[in-house]
Amino acid sequence: MQEPHVFKAEPTAVMLEAGKTYAWCTCGLSQKNPFCDGHHKTIEGMPFKPLRFTAEKSEEVWLCNCKHTKTPPFCDGTHEQFRK
Ligand code: FES
Repeated sequence: MQEPHVFKAEPTAVMLEAGKTYAWCTCGLSQKNPFCDGHHKTIEGMPFKPLRFTAEKSEEVWLCNCKHTKTPPFCDGTHEQFRK
């Protein structure tokens, strides 16, 4: 299975708005990480598509940038293994 690109080995704090839908990048190639910028569409055979989610409440969350979290789109600390 193809692995997503590690955009950054640390999460980004994002203020979510209740009821708003977001598209979290899963390929790791977006220049607008942690969100999708459509980059996945430019690569033939790309198996990754953005994960769309709707915020249940307005709150600050940590969104994963390493793309290997087990609790997408949220950081679960997995990024530690990519730190040098
Ligand atoms: S940035 Fe991916 S698990 Fe923390």
